[in-house]
Amino acid sequence: MLKFDVSKIREDFPILGRKIRGKNLVYFDNASTSQKPKAVLEALQRYYAETNANVHRGIHALSQQATDQCEAVRAQTARFLHASGPEQIVFTRNATEAINLVAYAWGRKFLKAGDEILLTGMEHHSNIVPWQILAQEKGSQLKFAPILEDGCLDLEGLKTLLTPRTKLFAFTAMNNAFGTINPVAELLGLAREQGVLTLVDAAQWTPHLRTDVAAWDCDFLVFSAHKMLGPTGLGVLYGKKKLLESMDPFLGGGDMIREVHLSHSTYNEIPYKFEAGTPHIGGIVAFGAALEYLSRLGWEAIDRHERGLTRYAMDALSQEKELRIYGPSQPERRGGILSFNLEGVHAHDVGTILDTEGVAVRAGHHCCQPLMRRFKTSGTVRASFYFYNTVDEVDVMLRAIRKVKEFFKVKVP
Ligand SMILES: Cc1ncc(COP(=O)(O)O)c(C=O)c1O
Repeated sequence: MLKFDVSKIREDFPILGRKIRGKNLVYFDNASTSQKPKAVLEALQRYYAETNANVHRGIHALSQQATDQCEAVRAQTARFLHASGPEQIVFTRNATEAINLVAYAWGRKFLKAGDEILLTGMEHHSNIVPWQILAQEKGSQLKFAPILEDGCLDLEGLKTLLTPRTKLFAFTAMNNAFGTINPVAELLGLAREQGVLTLVDAAQWTPHLRTDVAAWDCDFLVFSAHKMLGPTGLGVLYGKKKLLESMDPFLGGGDMIREVHLSHSTYNEIPYKFEAGTPHIGGIVAFGAALEYLSRLGWEAIDRHERGLTRYAMDALSQEKELRIYGPSQPERRGGILSFNLEGVHAHDVGTILDTEGVAVRAGHHCCQPLMRRFKTSGTVRASFYFYNTVDEVDVMLRAIRKVKEFFKVKVP
């Protein structure tokens, strides 16, 4: 395990040394995508410089090496998730595609008219729209667990929506707009009691917290590599073996077949049945370096650092009376995401002025429009942290927020 020394860690991330408009970059848009350490950039470069070949197709040495490297990362990903075998790991383009894969390959085969899918009112659009498309096609219904005023799930309301008609409960482990951490084990337990299949959207969870699909006993779990130091264009679907085997393919093409005849085809075994075409080989190899980097840091150290930072930022921001912070007030119920609005100033204006100070935040609906509507706002300013961020950077953001207040002459109403 490495000693957790943030200034040393920051040296691993070349982009963190950049200046933006003459100011030091303060990168607080990690919930959108994380920055990449040298180890990941070098793994990508090394792969293309030394190994580049297509996988599963050639008998030549490079193709075998590329295949071996990909399969090693599949096994590494299974260990990272505590999955029992690499065949449960399907590589996709991103978390969004992983959810669409389940909606298509599981939903189109097993869902019937009158069946229900339970979601929550805090889902990312990626965990809403694929189910809407499926439900429209199948004549099934979507239900949404309500959200309390503090941005947490209303568990009592949720329980009433889990009925014998519910076939799948798909929910986010950590909300991307407010940072609310859901009681994942409890939610999975409630679904299991009713014999309901589960899908955990772990896109915001896996970068920050230990993930254990065996302990959780979820049926599906999805995440994106790019939010956890890996390259863009790579996602993961974890699925229980029997379920994956029972599903029809998602996309058709090369690699996902066993035999192709003019009249019909037979399909490859899992996970290859769901991986049509050439995968993001370099991305998979580089993701291995990302997982290695995170495991050397350790989840406890990452969590401790991010919690300290979040607590500090919440304390500091809550001194600003004109600022409304969304989501749970107890720091233990939220991850390293702070969503806020400044009285009378549009979130985009706050984001734009912060940008002139070198502070990169996201402003808008964060692909969570139903949640924004629930809180009667069109959008928020979102600062999202990762383990390489510092208290000094929070102070820079705070000074920038005070500039916004001065500029817009913000007053407590
Ligand atoms: C909770 C959640 N789910 C799903 C996604 C979709 O991830 P991607 O765009 O990488 O597919 C995101 C991305 O922000 C997210 O935060």
